[in-house]
Amino acid sequence: MLVVLGVAGCNVPPSDPSTSDVQLPDTVTFAEHIAPLVWEHCMPCHRAGQIGPFPLVSYTDVQRKAKMVRFVTTERYMPPWPADTAYARYLGERVLNERQIALIAKWVEQGRLPGDTASLPDPPDHPDAPPLGEPDLVVPLPDTAFIPGDARDRFLIAKAPWELPRDTFVRAIMFEPGNRALVHHMNGGLINYPPGAKDDVFAGHGYIDAEQLGGPDAFAALQLANDDGTWPPLVPSAVNHLPGMLPPRYPEGIGGYHFARKGSFLLNTLHYGPTARDTTDRSRFLVYFAERAPERPLQELALGSLGITPVEPPLELAPGEVRTFRSTYTLPEPISVLSVNPHMHLLGTEFLAYAVTPARDTVPLVRINDWDFRWQYVYTFPRMVPLPSGTTIHVYGTFDNTAENPHQPFDPPRHVTGADSRFMRTTDEMFQFFLSYVDFRPGDDTVRLDQPPASAPAAASSR
Ligand code: HEC
Repeated sequence: MLVVLGVAGCNVPPSDPSTSDVQLPDTVTFAEHIAPLVWEHCMPCHRAGQIGPFPLVSYTDVQRKAKMVRFVTTERYMPPWPADTAYARYLGERVLNERQIALIAKWVEQGRLPGDTASLPDPPDHPDAPPLGEPDLVVPLPDTAFIPGDARDRFLIAKAPWELPRDTFVRAIMFEPGNRALVHHMNGGLINYPPGAKDDVFAGHGYIDAEQLGGPDAFAALQLANDDGTWPPLVPSAVNHLPGMLPPRYPEGIGGYHFARKGSFLLNTLHYGPTARDTTDRSRFLVYFAERAPERPLQELALGSLGITPVEPPLELAPGEVRTFRSTYTLPEPISVLSVNPHMHLLGTEFLAYAVTPARDTVPLVRINDWDFRWQYVYTFPRMVPLPSGTTIHVYGTFDNTAENPHQPFDPPRHVTGADSRFMRTTDEMFQFFLSYVDFRPGDDTVRLDQPPASAPAAASSR
């Protein structure tokens, strides 16, 4: 999203539970109050062909669902934004403030008045892609994925390989879902094959169902390894996609990747929402080349499962067990953090990450009070967050393996272990925390990350 949420322009913090100081107009109408609100906060997903199950654009759309809209906004179930904004703030937050929630409630109580809908402007464009222009390279998934109409969430592991005349650099990578109404999220890594390491990057399956095949079998089916069986270098979360969110666009000189002659995207998770009809998807990656090597390349720290620090105690849950795990890491070098990405699977319920500097300052990173595996956001800070050398990062994750957990995939609950290979089933649990960072430079604490490059259109906000 390009919408810039100036913290300064918003007097009522979204998580402030007090409504006493909220001033509401005497009469609330769709045209004057509700349309701008749903167009900004709901319509990115609730319009034709998008992931939201029905459109929320016109007066008829919204008044038909008005009671549900009041319920999901009061409960803060919609718009989906699991991170606690009372703990840390990010760019593009999808959160309604108390006044907006109260406006919706009052509109419903007053009988859903349309107001002067004839004078409403056209609903805004919500571009599906950032204005980066034509990509230099399009990398599609090699096969079309079949999605049976069994009304279940579906998780694939997939690859999207490429072969180029020579090595190059990229400034931006976008994931473009083929089936926008179903692609719920995608977390993609970047594999660069060393020279001579891989003959045919296109050999092997294009995708596999992560619930059917995990571990070494999945690894073999995708044929992602080097020809000698060793594993090529992987940039774990180089591309992420969630409906309605545009990828972050960092200031000039920050970010970008080396792109080898032969390589592949590894779609660690390609999550499709449930559908009642058989359908298909063929998604693709849009790649934008850069002239030069990135000045400050993005790096990533992965803590927890498969990361550089262990999960303590080892991730394992008996049937019926609720348990908190942790992972900690002390920085050997100073870094400047751009974004954080908490990751758990179905049984996760709470997530907390913060850093403690050598001067004993606590830096909040992310808190999620009600984990929902369907909304795996990468949270980008409004400014870079420098962490000095010697800072300790603390990460805590709680998992609920009881039958009462609504996301429990097994009936009755089973013994669950942590994923122990790059390829895992969704029903294996994971406890991971990724930080995207660049090497620290003095003055980084003033570098704003919400400044789109000069070519981007001005941000619009109805707040
Ligand atoms: C990021 C995408 C996204 C945004 C933004 C969003 N929704 Fe949704 N909404 C969904 C999806 C997907 C579902 C289907 C249920 C689910 O996955 O949780 C849904 C479901 C719903 C439902 C049905 C809930 C149910 O239990 O069946 C309502 C009502 C709703 N949304 C209202 C809203 C309103 C009102 C807003 C804005 C204030 C909004 N949504 C913003 C994606 C979104």
